[in-house]
Amino acid sequence: MVLVASQQGEVMMENRTLRLAPGGGFDQISIDDDGAPSAPKAGEISVRLRASSLNYHDYGVVKGPMAPRDESRIPLADGAGEVTAVGESVTEFAVGDAVVSTFFPDWLDGAPENEGFGSTPGDGVDGFAREQVTLPATAFTRAPRGWSHAEAATLTTAGVTAWRSLFVHGNLKPGQTVLTLGTGGVSIFALQLAVASGARVICTSSSDAKLERLKALGAEAVINYRDTPEWGKKVRELTAGRGVDHVVEVGGPGTLQQSMTATAVGGHISLIGVLTGVKGDFPLIQSLLRQLRLQGVLVGSRQDQRDTVAAMEAMAIKPVIDRHFPLESLVDAFQHEESGAHFGKICIDI
Ligand SMILES: NC(=O)c1ccc[n+]([C@@H]2O[C@H](COP(=O)([O-])OP(=O)(O)OC[C@H]3O[C@@H](n4cnc5c(N)ncnc54)[C@H](OP(=O)(O)O)[C@@H]3O)[C@@H](O)[C@H]2O)c1
Repeated sequence: MVLVASQQGEVMMENRTLRLAPGGGFDQISIDDDGAPSAPKAGEISVRLRASSLNYHDYGVVKGPMAPRDESRIPLADGAGEVTAVGESVTEFAVGDAVVSTFFPDWLDGAPENEGFGSTPGDGVDGFAREQVTLPATAFTRAPRGWSHAEAATLTTAGVTAWRSLFVHGNLKPGQTVLTLGTGGVSIFALQLAVASGARVICTSSSDAKLERLKALGAEAVINYRDTPEWGKKVRELTAGRGVDHVVEVGGPGTLQQSMTATAVGGHISLIGVLTGVKGDFPLIQSLLRQLRLQGVLVGSRQDQRDTVAAMEAMAIKPVIDRHFPLESLVDAFQHEESGAHFGKICIDI
């Protein structure tokens, strides 16, 4: 452990790092000092991380079900900060640049290459619950101009997923109709991107207060999915019986049937989330009769992230941040996420 004495004589850490013990669990996180990272080699950059943000996936890792069984792990997939050193041959970044990490550091462009989370920071490899890191420059993109580090940290997982769902696979066009489920990070980004593109958006939530906030963000119609269990039918009513063109499906088995009911013939459903579980009945006949397009989505490539950054800037979108927590309060932040009280992203200041 490398400790540095401050002017006040306190012991300061050089590279505060949170580490999850094998198997995970909220009581299995320790804070330590990993010391300064190595100087960047050719093609690498060093980054002073300033922020991260929470995703349901990170929750699954830290709480335990998705944690590595045999090794410890630095959690958190999202990381934003500023470049502190660049290695030889790095031309894309300079010292002082604001950057944000990518979800698949080795999937740079083109068709999907990755099955699962083997190379994902905070899951298959160490993530960003730390102050400093040295990595290949291609593990980052530039952050959107004018965004704070906390805002930029919302992009890696939630922002890129919403973008890829609607634009890469959905080919969303102005005037089309989009359905989003709940008020988590992916869904709020999808609402913002769709509204900014001239789409009509219908949103669900379990909370009437949150439904009002969705309307303020531009939702044309809102439905409380607790009060209206047959919300798929309600969506059809709201679209004159036709159904929506796109569903950003974050719920999984407990919502898929209703999402299919809500979708127009030939419509597109992005299979993104597992908020209601990972197994269930699949309404095969409905998907055939309605000729639905179901597309599994796992975040996206580095190029998808660059496109997301450009789109957010062009559309003048800013992420909706629910609350900030300091790095040391990571467990409190996850408990806040677990409570379901949040609206949009929960950020971690580093
Ligand atoms: N495949 C991918 O690339 C990818 C990327 C990012 C996330 N995901 C997945 O997408 C899901 C959402 O992730 P997130 O990080 O955005 O989560 P999050 O920020 O934690 O959002 C959770 C929100 O989902 C809503 N919700 C819970 N149960 C619901 C239900 N039965 N029906 C509709 N909404 C429900 C709640 O909204 P209300 O409080 O408004 O009801 C809750 O606040 C997770 O399963 C996550 O693993 C997948």
